[in-house]
Amino acid sequence: MKILAFAGSSSTQSINKHLATYAASLFEGGEVEVLDLNDYELPLFSVDKEAVLGKPALATTFLDKISASDLIVLSLAEHNGSFSAAFKNIYDWASRQRKAVFNDKPMLLLATSPGKRGGSSILEMAKTVLPRYNANIRATFSLPSFHENFDIEAGKISNNVLDAALKDVIRNFDYGKETA
Ligand SMILES: Cc1cc2nc3c(=O)[nH]c(=O)nc-3n(C[C@H](O)[C@H](O)[C@H](O)COP(=O)(O)O)c2cc1C
Repeated sequence: MKILAFAGSSSTQSINKHLATYAASLFEGGEVEVLDLNDYELPLFSVDKEAVLGKPALATTFLDKISASDLIVLSLAEHNGSFSAAFKNIYDWASRQRKAVFNDKPMLLLATSPGKRGGSSILEMAKTVLPRYNANIRATFSLPSFHENFDIEAGKISNNVLDAALKDVIRNFDYGKETA
């Protein structure tokens, strides 16, 4: 099973990348690829830039990575209650090549933030919006107060209750028809 894990963030210190990487590692028998949005940086999308640039290869590669995966683990950063600009930008470029950006791949959708709400606003928004782009969201999990609950050095959730909760979500993960 090929797992594509990434954060909806271009921060080199991304806490969402830490969470996505850890969550992906919990799926048994998974071969994990961690994608970094910094490798998919494109000019700020506009129809005028699109007229010049056409269908950028980086956006095609991003879509190909999704197509080649069996499962997506996406952890979203919350910027002012919304997607980060980095995520929205590659998503906009990619959607012009294929509206079904997420290709119906089973998705574990995550979010974390340093605050107590753990990115729950962006998680709720994404649950509504991403399925229109064929995100097949099978489960969600939000990790509150990242710095209190995650051990970056160990690469895992340090709060036992929250760690057990994520492990439960993954143990009960329903892949749906895609990988049946
Ligand atoms: C421009 C900006 C806006 C932010 N807005 C929010 C917000 O609305 N809600 C929130 O919980 N955190 C917000 N934060 C804090 C982020 O949750 C924090 O920077 C987090 O580390 C982002 O995830 P990342 O490390 O994966 O990029 C914001 C941060 C920035 C830089």
